[in-house]
Amino acid sequence: PREENGEFWLFGYGSLIWKPPPSFDKRIPGYVTGYVRRFWQVYVPSSMFTSSHPDYHQARGTPEAPGRVVTLIERSFWETLHDPHPDASDKVWGIAYRIEKAKVDEVKDYLDIREINGYSVHYTQFYPSDGSDTINTLVYIGTPDNDQFMGPQDPQKLAEHIHRSVGPSGPNIDYLLSLEVALDSLSTESGDEHIKDLANRVRKTQAGVSTKQALDREL
Ligand code: BEZ
Repeated sequence: PREENGEFWLFGYGSLIWKPPPSFDKRIPGYVTGYVRRFWQVYVPSSMFTSSHPDYHQARGTPEAPGRVVTLIERSFWETLHDPHPDASDKVWGIAYRIEKAKVDEVKDYLDIREINGYSVHYTQFYPSDGSDTINTLVYIGTPDNDQFMGPQDPQKLAEHIHRSVGPSGPNIDYLLSLEVALDSLSTESGDEHIKDLANRVRKTQAGVSTKQALDREL
């Protein structure tokens, strides 16, 4: 593996793909293995992290519907679960960001504020898409002992939930569709079937709602 001098490499597999950290000097597309990406994490910005915070329930959703974001699940653990999406590629595509030594604290603070809460830190090898040497990257993953980890979700219910959820960070749909587009842009093989299936279901739900609204207007 490539050794870097005091720099730190971060693997982004969610919004970090299209919303880079505040400071980085290299951005490399590629993948990690041994994990499965799933939309199984409740999104709660850390500023609203405690349920006693008055805005806690507004987090990326209505009081009944805090939105969902992706997390990585260790593949060996995932294999013990009953996932309605039983297939998953062994490659999880994303972006590795190199953070210069002088900026590491700034970026760690930013990530903490943004979304680390509810995730655990792992280090894992990252495979650059150009075939160059692997890089040891930090990755945040959801583990069952995190309150925000939901476990297997019915895809249609999950899509409808994403469709309904809007919070301070914007519509949950935007997160899902931005992730779909961002993943397709990384390489010819970087699409993710779980994400595509949810995006297709959300588009169908949206189309159904528009048709119903049009019909209601005509009545
Ligand atoms: C991401 O966008 O890749 C991400 C950032 C923080 C925690 C989990 C995922």
